[in-house]
Formats: sequence, structure tokens, C-alpha cells
Amino acid sequence: MKSDRLLEEIKYKIDIVEFLSDYVQLKKSGQNYKGLCPFHSEKTPSFMVSQAKQIFHCFGCGVGGDVISFLMKHENLSFSEAIRYAAKKAGIKITDFKFDKDDFSKNRENIIQINNEAMKFFIKNLSSSEAAKVYLKNRDINEESIDKFCVGYATNERDALLKYMKKIGYADSLIKDAGLVVSAERGYRDIFRGRIIFPIFNLQNDVIAFGGRVMDNSMPKYLNSPETGVFKKGETLFAINLSKEGIRKKAYAIIVEGYLDAIMCHQYGFNNTVAPLGTALTLRHLHRLRLLTNKIVLVFDSDEAGISAARRSLSILCESDFRARVLLLPEGEDPDSFLRKNGSQPFKKMLSHTISMIEFLLDKSKEDRIDNAREALGMIATMKDLIIADEMLRELADRSRINESVLRSELKKIRGKAGLYNVERMKQVETALNREEDLLLSAIIAFPEKVNDVLSKLTIEELKDETIRSIFKKIKIHSGHFSMNSFLGTADEKERALITKLSLEPGFDLELVDKNIDDCLQTLAQKKFGERKKLADTKEPDDAVLHNLLLKEKRKLIKGPQP
Ligand code: CTP
Ligand code: MN
Repeated sequence: MKSDRLLEEIKYKIDIVEFLSDYVQLKKSGQNYKGLCPFHSEKTPSFMVSQAKQIFHCFGCGVGGDVISFLMKHENLSFSEAIRYAAKKAGIKITDFKFDKDDFSKNRENIIQINNEAMKFFIKNLSSSEAAKVYLKNRDINEESIDKFCVGYATNERDALLKYMKKIGYADSLIKDAGLVVSAERGYRDIFRGRIIFPIFNLQNDVIAFGGRVMDNSMPKYLNSPETGVFKKGETLFAINLSKEGIRKKAYAIIVEGYLDAIMCHQYGFNNTVAPLGTALTLRHLHRLRLLTNKIVLVFDSDEAGISAARRSLSILCESDFRARVLLLPEGEDPDSFLRKNGSQPFKKMLSHTISMIEFLLDKSKEDRIDNAREALGMIATMKDLIIADEMLRELADRSRINESVLRSELKKIRGKAGLYNVERMKQVETALNREEDLLLSAIIAFPEKVNDVLSKLTIEELKDETIRSIFKKIKIHSGHFSMNSFLGTADEKERALITKLSLEPGFDLELVDKNIDDCLQTLAQKKFGERKKLADTKEPDDAVLHNLLLKEKRKLIKGPQP
């Protein structure tokens, strides 16, 4: 089967709105659907999906494309992987479709597959190890949790897993790539030995890695799989697969520190709990969570280490516009020990008496009141969501008893230094510069039948915008045939983003398409004329004056801001 036809069939069977609803909460807005962009953090929705055109575009960060490009970007898949995935969803058999799979994607699929085998192997081990079962029992992990979390056991043998994998036909190199073995003196040996195994899943429920805990006091207490093609420790949240629904329903996520904490929270009914893997919370973690919620409760031990970990997390939470509250457990307790000791009711009560970020920073942080307020202000300054930022500022004024207007002018100073808005302005100048080029492309997207007319009157090499130039070149190579759907498949990311944007927001009155084309061609010609005269003539067309002004401004922006 040819890939165009397959693509067409996929797009026919999958509705983009329905499909993306698994990833983004979409609401109808005019002719389109709108939601919070899964590719950058935002508070007001600028992620648009068009059912009619079967495309998406984010007017905040500029990404756009179709179902396939969404999958590629969101799941980090190659083109053929994304097609395969989508075809499966659409119920299309693709046995006769030849994939030119690159090594990277082949490896990815294989790693997940081999991990799956390893998981089954570990689960089987557990069923025949009394010691392991006793350990889990002593830790009050019940049968249901063992099943749900697919808990397993790695025996003490040197290479039991390796042998098994080889027996069922896996190559050494893949077993190594999956991070299941390490090189040792006498060849490879298993990484996990004599440990309780907690498989780690991604949001799509693929086993991407493992965590293993010793059953005694030996070191290290926990061991994780090394990073592989499918596993990046600093962005992975344990139990995210099982929490997806809970987080969506409860509209917030609980973040705890450890594997056992997460498991116990789930066991006691707090099914919206996730845990990083022994690392501090990162922006990449939050990026993943953002798909599900922007509200978080951080649970920490109230000892010094817990408090400083919470502080570090708060600053990145602010930076990504999350709304976080903090639950401080009694000293020396973690959620696991607390729940086992006290049951779910007291924990529930604590969840409803969490403290705000500001409260935490002022009370639990350092000794000095002014230092604390400054730290809080610094965090507020990084927020892009000005409404949440304002709410926090008021709270800061209330609690710190520092005058609100003083705080506001301090905030202004900090923000000014950060130069937050320059990027935005730069973008605006850029678009104004090539407005006619945008509009011409836009006309073609809306009326593909006009493409030959436009091409015949245009010198592609003279187009200023690199992306528009390359799009027109590609269209020309296809002998002036343009169809958005097939074009999206061959476009690069920038081209795709521009096409989806213009498609959703043509920027001209569709009824006046011919006039629009004429006007644009004329203005482009005028601009060319104006440039040639290099400002020598005082009577140059207004557009060229604007053009040059903008050009100057753009140069300034490219140079500055000076540190
Ligand atoms: N961790 C790790 N490597 C270690 C110790 C800890 O990766 N050597 C990570 C694990 O993800 C662990 C988390 O840090 O779950 C928290 O560690 P810690 O508080 O020491 O352990 P607990 O989660 O309380 O584990 P347990 O209750 O099993 O002792
Ligand atoms: Mn613990």
C-alpha cells in the first residue's frame, strides 16, 4: 500500500477532534475546538483544532499539523511509527505496507517489547519467591496493588534474565540497549538482582524502565534502569499511567517522593498520585503533567531535606504556571508510613489543609522574613500567567505585611531585567515584515486552484521569508499542485506550523481572494521597488517606510537586550 493512500485512509477514519481529546480537553469555539496546548504551558487556551480541516495549530507556541505530526511530536515517534500507531487506532491493517523504519524507531519498539517480556519474567519470579512475597506483605502492599503495579522480583542469580531473554530469541545488543544488563568481567550480567521490581510505565502504558528495591539494608536501596531510547529519568513520573484518570477527575495531582509512597497512596484511594524517580521535580516532569492538570499538591516530610526539596520544586512550578500547594507531613513520616499508621482519613484531612506556596515560603523556609519575601517575589516574576501571579502577590503582601505597591514596583524591576516580552515583540515585527507573503500563501491554502496563477506572477527567490520560500519551492516542484493534507506529510516543522496557522486564520476575507492576491503581489512589487531605491526617494510608498522602520527595529532587537 502506498503511504499517501494509507495516510488518506487514516485521516478518513480518525477524527482529529476525537483523537486529540485523549490528550487535550477541547471545547467548541466557533467553527473550531479550543484547548490548552500540550506542547507549552499556558493558562488561556490557544491550541485550536479544526474538524473540517483535520488539523491543529497552537497560536501560543506556533506548533501545528495533522494527527500524524501530533503523534510524532507528542510521543516522540518517527513518521512511520506514527502512521503505524494511528493505523492501529483506526483499525486499518497495515501488513502490506512497507515501512522504512529508521534504526531509532525500530529500537524504541523493540525496547518496549523486550521490557514487556522482562516484566512478565519478574512477575513470574515473584510468584515463586516466598521471601519476596513476605517482604511485600510486611510492607502492607496488598494483592490488588501488586497486580495493579505489576510488581515483580529479580532473583539473586547473576544472569537469570539474560539467559531467559536469549532463550526466547533476543539479541545481546538489544538486551543491553534496553538497560537490562551491564557489562561485567565475564560478559554481561543482569542489572537487577535480588530486588523487588517496580516496572515504570509511560502515559500510554508502555513499560519503559524498571526500579528495583533491595529487601534488606544493602546499598544502593533503589536502582533504576539506565536511560535508554525510551526512558529519560528526569521526565518520568512513576504511576502516571495509573493516575491519569484520577488526576483528570480530581483535577489535581499529588506528588510524593518515592515508589512505595505512590503505591500506598493508590492503595488508600488517592489514585491521583505520582512520584519522580529519586530526582527533584523538573520542568520536563511538569510538561508531561500539564497534559492532565496544572494543579498540584506536593507532599513532603517536614524535616530539613524535605523542606529544601519542596522549595526547589516550587520555583519550577511557578515558572511553568502551576498552582501548587504543600502538604507537610509530621517529621520523620513519609506518605507510606503515615498511611499505614493512620489510614486514609487523616491523610484526606491533611490534603484539605494544605498550605499555599506563599505561606510555605514565608513560614517554613529560611529564617529571614525579607529574604523569604524576596524569594517569593522572584518566583512570582517568572510566572507567565499574570492572573495567578497577581493573586500570589496580594497574598504575599498580606502575609509578609510588606506594602503591596512596594512589592509591585519591585516585581516590575525584576521582570524588566528578565526581558520577558522581547521574544513576543520580535515575533510581531517579523510577521509584519512579511505580511504579503503570508497572505499569498494563505490564499493558496484556502484556494488551491489559484496556485498556478500565483506562481506565475511570483519570483520565489525574492520572497523574504525563508519558510514561505521553501514552501513555494516545494509546491512548484509538485508542478503547482497543492493539497494541504499531502503537503503536511512532507513539510518540516516550521512549514507545517505556518500552514496550519494560515489555514485556521487566513487573515483576509475569503470572498475577496482575488483582490487579496492582486494587492499582495502589487505590494510586494512596490516593496522591491522601494528597496532598490534604498530610501533615496522621499516619496516612497508607505509600506516601504513601514518596512524599513520595522527592519531597523528588528536589527535592534537582534542585537539587544544587552546583559
Ligand atoms: N531513590 C533512589 N535511589 C536510592 C534511594 C532513593 O533512586 N538509592 C529514590 C527512589 O525513587 C525512592 C525515592 O528516592 O523511592 C525516595 O527515597 P527514600 O525516601 O530513601 O526511600 P523510600 O521511598 O521511603 O523507600 P522505602 O520506604 O522503601 O525505604
Ligand atoms: Mn518510605
